Amino acid sequence: MTRVRFGIIGGGLMGREIASATARWMHIDAPFARPEITAVCDVDAGARAWFRDNIPSCGYATDDIADLLGRDEIDGIYCAVPHHLHETIYLQILEAGKHLLGEKPFGIDQAANDRILAAARARPDLLARSPWEFPFFRGAGSHIDPRNFHSIPGHRLSLMLSKAVRSVR
Ligand SMILES: NC(=O)c1ccc[n+]([C@@H]2O[C@H](COP(=O)([O-])OP(=O)(O)OC[C@H]3O[C@@H](n4cnc5c(N)ncnc54)[C@H](O)[C@@H]3O)[C@@H](O)[C@H]2O)c1
Repeated sequence: MTRVRFGIIGGGLMGREIASATARWMHIDAPFARPEITAVCDVDAGARAWFRDNIPSCGYATDDIADLLGRDEIDGIYCAVPHHLHETIYLQILEAGKHLLGEKPFGIDQAANDRILAAARARPDLLARSPWEFPFFRGAGSHIDPRNFHSIPGHRLSLMLSKAVRSVR
């Protein structure tokens, strides 16, 4: 099975989320590839310690992005830092020749987004994605049409829950 080795930049809530998702990969019927977290970069020592203590495959931790990006045992980066840092760090990741799983919003504004997309298009050998681009979001979005609203079980459920909450109040 192919191992896809990830470094994480930003080991906060979402960084820990993807780390725990990779740890329960056996739930998914995907025998062709398995993600593995091999390194983490965070400016916060507590965040780095969480990876050391909870993710056995994560053998390297640093607070220096350039240091992380220079490492050979990383195929791709999952980057979950605050919005205003996305552009700078996403560009660094692509320049370093690493695949990029970014977070939303890809760029903090249209201009930043355009620069990230231009850098991604300049490296067609690399995968660069933001979660909101995944086809399932588009597919789900196509169902969110006011005319279909009543037919989505999840929306029915949330309507029922909000009615229940209102009645308790
Ligand atoms: N896809 C989703 O459903 C979803 C949900 C929540 C958040 N997000 C996105 O994920 C991103 C992160 O959100 P979060 O909730 O994990 O934030 P968070 O604050 O919990 O984590 C961010 C981490 O980045 C670290 N960091 C900050 N500057 C850094 C730097 N220069 N180098 C290295 N590390 C640095 C911080 O120390 C922190 O640990 C945001 O862009 C947010 O919009 C996406």
